[in-house]
Amino acid sequence: MMAAGPVFLVIMGATGDLTHRKLIPALFNLYLKGRLPDELNIIGVARHGINIDDLRDSYRNWVKENTEQGFDDAKWSRFAARISSLSTGCKDMAGYKRLAGLIDKDKKPAAGYLFYLAIPPGFVADVVAKLGRAGLLAKDDAWRRVVVEKPFGHDLASARKLNEEMHKVLDERQIYRIDHYVAKETVQNILVFRFANTIFEPLWNRNFVDHIQITLAEGIGVEHRGGFYDRVGVIRDIFQNHMMQLLALVAMEPPASFTADALHNEKVKLLSAVRPIPAGEVGKYAARGQYRDYRNEPGVSPESRTETFAAMKLHIDNWRWHDVPFYLRSGKRVKKKYSEVMIQFKSPPHIMFPVPEGSHPTPDMIAICLQPDEGIHLRFEARIPDTFAGMRSVDMEFHYEESFGASAIPQAYERLLLDALAGDRSLFIRNDGVEMGWELMDPIIEGFQSPQGPPLETYEPDTWGPAEADKLIERDGREWLQGCGKKEDEAGIVG
Ligand code: BG6
Repeated sequence: MMAAGPVFLVIMGATGDLTHRKLIPALFNLYLKGRLPDELNIIGVARHGINIDDLRDSYRNWVKENTEQGFDDAKWSRFAARISSLSTGCKDMAGYKRLAGLIDKDKKPAAGYLFYLAIPPGFVADVVAKLGRAGLLAKDDAWRRVVVEKPFGHDLASARKLNEEMHKVLDERQIYRIDHYVAKETVQNILVFRFANTIFEPLWNRNFVDHIQITLAEGIGVEHRGGFYDRVGVIRDIFQNHMMQLLALVAMEPPASFTADALHNEKVKLLSAVRPIPAGEVGKYAARGQYRDYRNEPGVSPESRTETFAAMKLHIDNWRWHDVPFYLRSGKRVKKKYSEVMIQFKSPPHIMFPVPEGSHPTPDMIAICLQPDEGIHLRFEARIPDTFAGMRSVDMEFHYEESFGASAIPQAYERLLLDALAGDRSLFIRNDGVEMGWELMDPIIEGFQSPQGPPLETYEPDTWGPAEADKLIERDGREWLQGCGKKEDEAGIVG
């Protein structure tokens, strides 16, 4: 329930990509669904002398071009009337005072203020300090929150420093660190699948699970973000945040309640049980690659050593997961956009069927399909009709589109904006969660950069990444699997 009174959403970085692509479309969708606070005022802050009509036009063009069907001009105009703008540089203290003046203009006590920092990470600490100095984060009856985009730091030390800087002005409960993956419907559904059912959780442990794979694959390359990506690489871009959050959701213990702190506590507890990979041993547990022609992408150094693909094996040192490997992989310019969590169960201890020598039934599998074909597959062995004892795997499938309709899945940013406005931090990342991610990934980055680390292998676009990533899992007698989508291999055991 949102408090009554005006609400101010201040977007710092109003002319940027994120604001056009994600924030404004999400806000417009929420407006169409009638979910925004009645008295919401959106103030776009950006550097170059922006004119409000140009800004609204630019948003409108973007939203219209990207609306699949039926852009409603009249509704857009009513929505756009809520947007105003302010031109100022992030460093200009006088601009913050003007912002305070703009907000106070109608003198009606506000319910709250949400400052969305859609700005390069290097500016965050300074902008927060200046918002504080301008009195915009004052402690009074209105709520005041700050949303921060990833990357949150570039290693553990810088993330800690940024947290310290922000805590000088803000209480942790006022900080909303975004990881948009966590707000995807399919990712949120991991908790429902695990903890709103009774039939899966008893199997969700070392007694039944052979291993778990998480794949976050992208068909696209770095596109127009080459300059940024080249300084970051896949570990900082995906593993430290999205991948660690997914790992936590898949492997954590059941929280006692669906509250932000209960969820964050369990996630951090899980991440703190992940066995760190020492920098000197990264070659044993991880592989990396760079797609061919990456170095020709705009903004990328022609000598770049940045990895665009990585795979790793992690262990979790607790009772539930002792000896169960977690294989994680992510990369750009691979075969297709494909993200899933795959839980492979152990093989039956004894096969009573007269299967041919050397054949084994395929182990059962649960595949949580994150995107693009959102849903869940449960794969198990079935008898091939009219054979003596033939069997092959079949899938029971749940697809969001079939069960809830084609437009059932909203953009993650809708959920995130709504939650930030409502003060629900469950889907945001707490400071210790961010720091745990870096604690685990820093040694891997260090190992990758050392001359003794795993080689940077070039992989062909439209493949599944470097051969070393396959070897990493094949050394353990396993292989990368895809549980989602249509099954290509219909082979079974003929008996
Ligand atoms: C972002 C990364 O966080 O996630 C991008 O910075 C990546 O490099 C994107 O492309 C993937 O998100 P989604 O929602 O498109 O799968």
